Amino acid sequence: MLDVCWRQVIRFAPALLVLLAACGPKPKMQPQDRHSFATPLEVRTKHLDLDLEVLFEQKILRGTATHTVVRTDEDAPLVLDTRDLTITKVETAESADKPFTPAKFEVAPKDPILGAALKIPLPSGATLVRVHYATSPAASGLQWLEPAQTSGKQKPFLYTQSQAIHARSWIPLQDSPGVRITYRARIRTPKDLIAVMSARSDFRLANPKEPPHGDYSFRLPQAIPSYLIALAVGEIEFRYLSSRSGVWAEPGVVERAAKELADTERMIQAAEKLFGPYAWYRYDILILPPSFPFGGMENPLMTFATPTILAGDKSLVSLIAHELAHSWSGNLVTNASWSDFWLNEGFTTYFERRILEEVYGPKRARMEAVLGRQSLVEELKTLPQKDQILHIDLSGRDPDEGATNVPYEKGALFLTALEGAVGRERFDAFLNAYFRRFSFESITTSQFRNFLNKNMPPTQVPVEEWLTMPGLPASAPKPVSDTFQGEPSLQWNTHQWLHFLRSFPPGIGAAKMAQLDRLYHFTRSTNYEILFEWLRMAVVNRYAAAYPKLEESLVAVGRRKYLKPIYEELAKTAEGMAMAKRIYEAARPGYHPITAATIDAILRK
Ligand code: BES
Ligand code: ZN
Repeated sequence: MLDVCWRQVIRFAPALLVLLAACGPKPKMQPQDRHSFATPLEVRTKHLDLDLEVLFEQKILRGTATHTVVRTDEDAPLVLDTRDLTITKVETAESADKPFTPAKFEVAPKDPILGAALKIPLPSGATLVRVHYATSPAASGLQWLEPAQTSGKQKPFLYTQSQAIHARSWIPLQDSPGVRITYRARIRTPKDLIAVMSARSDFRLANPKEPPHGDYSFRLPQAIPSYLIALAVGEIEFRYLSSRSGVWAEPGVVERAAKELADTERMIQAAEKLFGPYAWYRYDILILPPSFPFGGMENPLMTFATPTILAGDKSLVSLIAHELAHSWSGNLVTNASWSDFWLNEGFTTYFERRILEEVYGPKRARMEAVLGRQSLVEELKTLPQKDQILHIDLSGRDPDEGATNVPYEKGALFLTALEGAVGRERFDAFLNAYFRRFSFESITTSQFRNFLNKNMPPTQVPVEEWLTMPGLPASAPKPVSDTFQGEPSLQWNTHQWLHFLRSFPPGIGAAKMAQLDRLYHFTRSTNYEILFEWLRMAVVNRYAAAYPKLEESLVAVGRRKYLKPIYEELAKTAEGMAMAKRIYEAARPGYHPITAATIDAILRK
């Protein structure tokens, strides 16, 4: 290739400049993402301006998204991802001081997984593209809560969940993690509600106690992938945790949240010591109503979290360590496609435990690692081989299906294996170099592999086997914890109880369950990790005494990780299926569209 170029340079000297441009370094760009219709190699958004009204009555967002584009191919249209959006008008302008003029646009037929491409031919010179639109009440990335679904029961609540490909259901944009943008937003809300976003806000800066006013401005000067754009609107209050961190939650929850999350600043300091300065200015946490479909979501500057982590004894704050760790792995260095998801979650699971080790000591970190490997080994028994691969092929599938224990726990074990091979000191130097090299970039598994080969001495770790083969290599680390030995006692912590429960074989029977319940009161546990582990066992063993609690919990909590195994277990028998369908009918209206889609698929069988 180079050879050909030079020969051409010599033969066609007058065309030197043109050729230099062709042979020289190309702008850093990722290949086409199979989960997006966007064509960023031709036209790419670099900045997004949102102006949205939040209409609770109609359950829609309405307004404009204005894209500032970089045009590599002057003849190419701008292609945006959309799902269930109503596009009313598109306009373009040459620059901010020039007028916007109406433009043609075309919405392609809808693909069931990807949504519909919005194609906008661009007049020459146009660099700004404004799309006027409204969302659908059934948008997959939005949950509109009735007052009854909140803790306060007085005001409605709205929140977004954009990962993996749901941003397109509330913003027309290039919905690929390989495309990074800065953004600004103006959000109009009812006057008595507060809006927060994954961005800086003047409101929050000036005085968190300032009364709401229905008109909020946000800006994020760092370039992020679209799946990190987030918004929440509701009756929420702020509590100070440290000069750069705090917690937002409904008034009835916020005190409890502030107590539970009191170690947040220590976690930030531990993370900075390990991986370098925190790049995002503030770190706040928003506690959502219980229908939130995930444990946590690493929206920059504003982690979104389930209230089920508020156990009262800080035993479930590893989730905060995890979402905080994403401020480096994921938000600074991002997976370029959903096949590279393990780069986000494997690194983060590894870092999560390093943070826990710094703040709570090695015993705590080791317990979490043992439990993590245990869930991985269990899940590997049920996963098809192709889904056991770190660098997974997700073509033709919803990327949410890739979120198994494999990217998380197999990814973390791989990094633990590398750490074991070169020693912690050298591994930490490698990780710091990785973050410096790829900060604010979206990278592929191949880029990681190349960086590893260049920056780490050869080891016995079978890197290719880890990245491209199913199962676990024979040499995979086996974390151990002596804390898990011994008899049950009232002094036991959450992790010990979880390990205890998981050590029972599946069919212990209802009588044994009743005996355990008499001794340790699991049905009354207020710790959701323990409770849901127990409720799953109750279904397997037909332990009917726990059914009222089961029903109550399935209606009250929308966290998909808890619900999925229980509905799956129920669906295995005819009577279980009948019970599942009855409960689901009452519970479904309260579930997030993402959770509802998962449970629909289980109960349809
Ligand atoms: N980024 C994920 C959540 C996610 C993954 C949303 C894929 C949509 C698609 C987040 O960081 C996460 O991993 N959350 C976990 C908790 C964590 C402690 C393992 C969860 O929600 O259970
Ligand atoms: Zn994560």
